[in-house]
Amino acid sequence: MKKQQTSESAKNLEKMLAVSPYNQLALSAVGPIKDVKIFDTTLRDGEQAPGIALNPEDKIRIAIALDDLGVDIMEAGFAASGETERDIIKELARSNLDAKLCSLARAVRSDIDAVLDTGAGMVHTFIATSELHMKYKLKMTPEQVKAKAVETVEYAKAHGLEVQFSCEDATRSELGFMLDVLKSVQDAGADSVNIPDTVGVIIPRAMGHLIGELRKELKIPISVHCHNDMGLAVANSMAAIDAGATICHVCMNGIGERCGNAALEEVVVNLFANYGIQTVDMSKIAQTSKLVERVTGFSIAGNKSIIGRNAFAHESGIHVHGVMSNTLTYEPFLPEMVGANREIAIGKHSGAHSIKGRLDELGVKFPEEHMPELLAMIKKIAIGGKMIDDAELLAIIDNIMWKTNTRAKIVSLDELTVLTGKNTTSTAVVTVTINGNDKRTAAETGVGPVDAAINAIKKAINDKITMEEYKLSAITGKSDSICEVTVMVKNVQNDNALAVGKAVGLDIVETSVDAMMAAINRDFARERNA
Ligand code: KIV
Ligand code: ZN
Repeated sequence: MKKQQTSESAKNLEKMLAVSPYNQLALSAVGPIKDVKIFDTTLRDGEQAPGIALNPEDKIRIAIALDDLGVDIMEAGFAASGETERDIIKELARSNLDAKLCSLARAVRSDIDAVLDTGAGMVHTFIATSELHMKYKLKMTPEQVKAKAVETVEYAKAHGLEVQFSCEDATRSELGFMLDVLKSVQDAGADSVNIPDTVGVIIPRAMGHLIGELRKELKIPISVHCHNDMGLAVANSMAAIDAGATICHVCMNGIGERCGNAALEEVVVNLFANYGIQTVDMSKIAQTSKLVERVTGFSIAGNKSIIGRNAFAHESGIHVHGVMSNTLTYEPFLPEMVGANREIAIGKHSGAHSIKGRLDELGVKFPEEHMPELLAMIKKIAIGGKMIDDAELLAIIDNIMWKTNTRAKIVSLDELTVLTGKNTTSTAVVTVTINGNDKRTAAETGVGPVDAAINAIKKAINDKITMEEYKLSAITGKSDSICEVTVMVKNVQNDNALAVGKAVGLDIVETSVDAMMAAINRDFARERNA
C-alpha cells in the first residue's frame, strides 16, 4: 500500500491552498489528468552531482525516507558502476520497499546483467539519439544505436525486468529517428519510454509539443526527465504532464548533474495544487528534504521554493500584518501541507505588528509605550541583515525594561573613540556630561579596547568607581549573536556601595560601555537620592 495522505486529509489539504484561478481556466483546455507516477532519481542522477558522494549507509537512509515519503519508483543507482553500488541496490531489494526498485543501465548486455544481479525488478536503460551524442560520444550510426536499443530491451525483458527506455538527449534528437527508436523498443516489449531533456535546453511550449507528437504514435506510458540548466526543469516537467506524460523523474531538493533535475518537492506540490493529484505524503517533504541536505552536504538556498528557510518566513511589516490576519494573503499554501513551519522573522524590516505577534506567541507582556524603543533597538541591531531570534528578542526586552527601572541619566556618554590593533596599546578617549552641564574628556589605555574604554570613563568621573565584576555572554551560540554585558561597579567614595549595569548589543566594546554607563547612572542616582 502506497503511503499517501488519505482522501480525508486530501480534502483538508485543499483548504490549505490559494493558487491562481487562471490555472484552472488554462487547464480546462488540457483535459483531466488523473495519475502521475513519481520516478525518484535522487540516489542516481542526484548522486551524480559534482561534490556528492554518498556512502552505503547514507544511501540506505535516504532510500528509506523516500520510500516513506511514497515515491512510486526509486532509481537507487547504476548497478554496473561497481560492487558497492550493487550491494546497496541488493540490500534495498531485500528491504521490501513499497517503491518499485530500479537501476540505471547503458544499452549493453553486461549492464543489464549487473541489474539482474541486484534483484531490482526494474531497469532504466538508455542510449543517446541526438546527432551530437551519436557522432561525438558514441561514435555510432543511427542504425547501430537503434539496434542496440532494441537488443537491450529484448534482453532485459527476456530476463523478467520491467523496462523503461530513455533516448538520451531526446530534446535535441531528430523527431523521425527518435520515434522510430521509441516505436521499435515498444515493439521489443519496453514498459515505458522516457524523454530526457539531458542538458535542460527545451522550453515548456516545445516540450508540450514534443510529448504531444510522441503521444500520438506510442501506446506505452511516456516519462520525462528534465534538467535545470536554464531553470526550466519543473516548468518543462509540468508541460510534459499537460501533454500526456504520466511518469515524472525528480530528485529531492532538485539535486542532480550540473544544475540538477526537476525538484521532487516542486513537482509534487504543483501536481497537488493545480491538478489535484496526490502523489506522495506531502507532510513528509520538509523532513525528507532536510535529511537529503544533511547527508549530501548540499545546502538548500534560503529562497528555494517549498523547502528553503524563507519559504514561509515573513519579516516586513505589511506582510506580517497580512499573514497574521489570514496566512494565505502572503503564502500560496500553509506550511503544514509540506511539514514545514511558518516563521515570523524579526529583523530590519519588522514592524510593531510582527514584534507584538511574536511576543504574544512567547507569552511576553511588553508595555506599549516602550514599543518605539524596542523597534529602534531591533533596527539598530538588525541593520546589517542580522535576524533576531527569540532568545535575543527576550534579552533586548529585558534590557529595555531594566533600563526603564534605572532611567535616571545623570551621566551621559557623548563621544567614544577607541584605537586598537595588533602590537598597539589600546587607547580610548571619552567625553561625558555630568548633570547636564559638566562636560569632561579623558583618555586612557588598557589591555584591550574594552579595558581602555572603561578606564577612560572611570578617569572622566574622577576615579570614584572601580569595576568589581564584568560578565560577557553571547545570547545564542551563533557567531553573529548579540552579546549581553553585565558589570558591577563599586563606589569607593561612598561606602563601597555596589551598582549593577546591563546592556545588549552587537558590538562588544559599545555594549560594555553601555553596561558601564548604566551601572554608573545607578550609582549616581542612589547617591543623589541618599
Ligand atoms: O539526463 C539524462 O539524460 C540522464 C539519462 C541517463 C537518462 O540522466
Ligand atoms: Zn539526467
